[in-house]
Amino acid sequence: MSDALGIAVVGCGTVGGGVVEALLRHRDRLAQRAGRPLQLRHIVVRDRHKPREPFVPRELLTDSLAPVLQDAAVQVVVELIGGTTAAREVVLSSLAAGKHVVTANKALLAEAGPDIFEAARRAERTVCFEAAVAGGVPIIRALGESLAANQITAIQGILNGTSNYILTAMAERGLPYAQALEEAQAHGYAEADPSLDVDGSDAAHKLAILAQIAFGVIARPQDITRQGIDQLHPMDIRFAQELGYTIKLLAEAWTRSDPQHPDGPRGVALHVAPVLLRHTDLLAQVRGAYNAIAVYGDIVGETLYQGPGAGRGPTTSSVLADLIDLAVGRAQRTFAAARLWSRADRGFVLDPPEQVHSRFYLRLLVADKPGVLADIARILAQHTISISSVVQHEAPEGDGEPVPLVIVTHYATTGHFLAAVEQINRLPTVATPAVYYSMGD
Ligand code: NAP
Ligand code: HSE
Repeated sequence: MSDALGIAVVGCGTVGGGVVEALLRHRDRLAQRAGRPLQLRHIVVRDRHKPREPFVPRELLTDSLAPVLQDAAVQVVVELIGGTTAAREVVLSSLAAGKHVVTANKALLAEAGPDIFEAARRAERTVCFEAAVAGGVPIIRALGESLAANQITAIQGILNGTSNYILTAMAERGLPYAQALEEAQAHGYAEADPSLDVDGSDAAHKLAILAQIAFGVIARPQDITRQGIDQLHPMDIRFAQELGYTIKLLAEAWTRSDPQHPDGPRGVALHVAPVLLRHTDLLAQVRGAYNAIAVYGDIVGETLYQGPGAGRGPTTSSVLADLIDLAVGRAQRTFAAARLWSRADRGFVLDPPEQVHSRFYLRLLVADKPGVLADIARILAQHTISISSVVQHEAPEGDGEPVPLVIVTHYATTGHFLAAVEQINRLPTVATPAVYYSMGD
């Protein structure tokens, strides 16, 4: 067997701890799959005096990156600390010191992808990031390698395990939002700052990475409109169920070509939002911390990838796959060929999401009196939006309280729908700002 691949793991929390444990426990299997030993040489943490899990070899612990950078036997640095400040420094200094990098840090790649990949190319080193999107689901390889012959036309994904766990717990067990989030955190699914999970940012970071691979667009986090599940009312989960739908937080990329200029740049709209999916839709059936991604390619058609999207085991599995690919030498070749975040124009520009067509779920709290529904229907009609169905439950006679009114529309352009909502919100009979979500087919 040839020389060992020397590895330093930076961060020994949920994911780093899993990687350390697996490197030690599955040493022989990994050496066999990689064709050479994967040798763990350093574990970098913030506080090396903190109690650690029993399998962590204390003699490998350090609170400084310097010994890693100085150790010529370290060929790969695995960044698993999270955040974008210290992590960026770890990645850039490791590349500059001639180390390959494996990372699970989607926030960092979404924010600093061009700088990191340029630094890697300059240093003739490789950055691997299978664990950064969808945990244990091999979506980076699927999109970048297995579907490489296709032009991707659309991506629809459940990309945040924490949100999907919360939505499942609220819909199936009737759990309050805060308790469901606590459970997700206890399982190790959530980010250190869980607001990134529930406000749609984490899914947006992952969508930016997928969009780079699929379309070559450099989408900064602020380029992706997002709405999370943190404001989702249990009432809307119940109405959705009554209508035959399940609410999922979806990250979506839809492409558009201009029939007037078929050879001109194509548009791709990126956004993250709760979406109502029919109970029978495969994505609607993805439960708990699972992720799933539907990818549409012009040659292959529709493909679907599903699996555990967060937590120690799934993320560790993807990190180890990257380490094996580096040990074998596959990752270096793929990295060089893909030229990711290189500003090479692949013919796509970012489209505003207002252009996307959808059906919409609109829920209002309105005064229970004559003419209210007629006013709302008139405004929708003015914006050429047709109503598909209306739900209003019987309220106690004459108690004067606003009542929920749910309207489902036929297909409309997002821009037209938003303009109508703005006008509806100004009606004196509408008690609180409208709640609305787009709906799957
Ligand atoms: P975590 O449990 O909070 O662990 C973070 C680790 O990083 C801790 O060991 C901490 O050290 C160490 N650390 C923090 N700042 C450091 C610094 N400046 N220098 C050295 N060490 C530092 O985080 P995690 O859940 O494992 O997530 C790590 C990364 O994986 C993040 O980018 C996250 O987005 C990504 N990710 C997580 C999951 C998941 O399911 N959790 C899934 C996919 C991707 P101490 O132990 O001394 O505090
Ligand atoms: N916090 C992330 C999630 C971890 O819940 O999906 C996986 O990237």
